[in-house]
Amino acid sequence: MTTTLKRSRTRSHSSTRWLQRQLNDPYVQRARAEGWRARSVYKLDEIDRRFGLVRPGGRVLDLGAAPGSWSQYALKKGARVVAVDLLPIGPMPGAEVVQGDFLDPEVQAALLERLGGGADAVLSDIAPDATGKRVVDRLRMEGVGEAVVAFAEGALGPDGRVLVKLIRGAEARVMDLAKSLFVGCRLLRPKATRADSSEVYLLAERPRAKAA
Ligand SMILES: C[S@@+](CC[C@H](N)C(=O)[O-])C[C@H]1O[C@@H](n2cnc3c(N)ncnc32)[C@H](O)[C@@H]1O
Repeated sequence: MTTTLKRSRTRSHSSTRWLQRQLNDPYVQRARAEGWRARSVYKLDEIDRRFGLVRPGGRVLDLGAAPGSWSQYALKKGARVVAVDLLPIGPMPGAEVVQGDFLDPEVQAALLERLGGGADAVLSDIAPDATGKRVVDRLRMEGVGEAVVAFAEGALGPDGRVLVKLIRGAEARVMDLAKSLFVGCRLLRPKATRADSSEVYLLAERPRAKAA
């Protein structure tokens, strides 16, 4: 059943479009029914089923974690979770939560301290605020992507993996850096990614400096 909203004087055209898309998105409906905080959980679930990123007892760092479905997922699988976001994250029993900017070196130091050892997975779903200007948005995403990949190289254990969200156009530069630091790298586009979205995920495994 498709929900169509009536026009409203108090709602802009773009928010009506957004609301209509949310109401008709099967992943949004499924997430609500299954108790996940966001539809993005199905992207992680698909990638995790294929590559086994999240393991019971493993250390997982969740970057750009709010509202928290990836952390929820990792906790449910029995992983130890450290999460960070600029925004507050609702209570997440069992996870260590830091509110702050991942790009801030003090925040990165706090994350490493809470991790207490080499991570098994660094997961970044960070989405910098979009400006609508293609070049600016690409440069921002490249900056975040490179920062995540470089940080993950130090934070991960020898068999660790980093998953990082990018947008098309930003992937080539981040892939170059990832190839120089990691043994294996690939790009993924999970089925739950919206058809009109330009996002892709880069998965890199085994930091070269730590590989046997
Ligand atoms: C798509 S949402 C993440 C959804 C999350 N994976 C989930 O499943 O609930 C992207 C998040 O990135 C966060 N973010 C953007 N820039 C950030 C930064 N520099 N440091 C930390 N978080 C950031 C935003 O606040 C936003 O909550």
